[in-house]
Amino acid sequence: MSFMSVDSDKLARTSCVRPIKIEDGRVLLLDQRKIPERVEYFDATALSDMFNAIKDMIVRGAPVIGVAAALGLASEGRRLAHAGLAQREFIEKLDLARKKLQSSRPTAVNLRWATDLIFEKACKGNSANLSLLADELFAAAISMVEDDIRANMMIGRHGASVIPDEGGVLTHCNAGALATCGWGTALGVIRSAWDHGKRFNVYVDETRPRQQGARLTTWELLQDNITPTLITDSMAGYLMAQRRIDVVIVGADRIATNGDAANKIGTYTVAVLAHAHNIPFYIAAPLSTIDPHIENGDQIPIEEREASEVTVIGDQKICPPEVHVWNPAFDVTPARLVSGIICQTGILRPPYTESIQAALAQAPD
Ligand code: MRU
Repeated sequence: MSFMSVDSDKLARTSCVRPIKIEDGRVLLLDQRKIPERVEYFDATALSDMFNAIKDMIVRGAPVIGVAAALGLASEGRRLAHAGLAQREFIEKLDLARKKLQSSRPTAVNLRWATDLIFEKACKGNSANLSLLADELFAAAISMVEDDIRANMMIGRHGASVIPDEGGVLTHCNAGALATCGWGTALGVIRSAWDHGKRFNVYVDETRPRQQGARLTTWELLQDNITPTLITDSMAGYLMAQRRIDVVIVGADRIATNGDAANKIGTYTVAVLAHAHNIPFYIAAPLSTIDPHIENGDQIPIEEREASEVTVIGDQKICPPEVHVWNPAFDVTPARLVSGIICQTGILRPPYTESIQAALAQAPD
């Protein structure tokens, strides 16, 4: 079986939570800021709307922001093609659009990966008919949606083996259908294990300051009738000390070739705690999350976000206005704390420098 092989019934089942919809050539994004109160879609077809949607986290999660940006770039290509530009000007303007989208969030490498693919296709494509070329770019971006879901289902299939038949699994942030094009990475593993009849408790870190765990992961699991247990981030250590966690599984925004991995702030703390309690700690991510250009986690750019994410909860200011705030959105977990990286080719094990290189060599172009 090819590592991209997934049966179509299963693929159809993933349609329950879809963060991206394409309707009449328009790119609609599930507004994740409004979950769990409301399910609303935001029209991000225009370049500036897509840029803002990624920056303001209407859409968030490394794999899905990559695909969303690719669709945004292709939509911009369609707009430029209809503006009657010469080929050189078309490519120059598309390049500016690519750079703008890539600047929206710096840590997730999928954003660069997906927009570079669309741009390279534009440079190599048939420049005699720009409208046709732009349609091809849009079709290529749409195909990334199904490719991502297929990759996630393979991640789920490989990863289900690390989930116990019963007991406890801890996850951080949201690495689910909402953070991908469907099924999810870390939550994809949880879903696949659940599909195999395993019945375990899923503990979900709240994930300060944006509460992706509390707002998104709990909501998403409940859609599949998996009832999670929510904890605040500070409870994870005591939960482990109580022997209620058998495995930790999280996603990633960028993985260096030595296996160091950036993920939502707080992941490193969970990894250290897991190590101290002798609990396996897994990362689930597609190969597009591996940055082949960097050797270790020190080279991963870490996004810092506005202070208000920390100083305000809901409408309530929780600290004096003079206070200084540091708000890194991600941290880096060193490879030595990672038991395995679950990707669509299988579970990569240390030494990661070798296993990652072998997995990348297996990946289609
Ligand atoms: O700031 P966010 O919500 O975009 O951060 C998301 C994460 O850190 C996820 O764990 C990561 O992108 C993996 S998603 C499959």
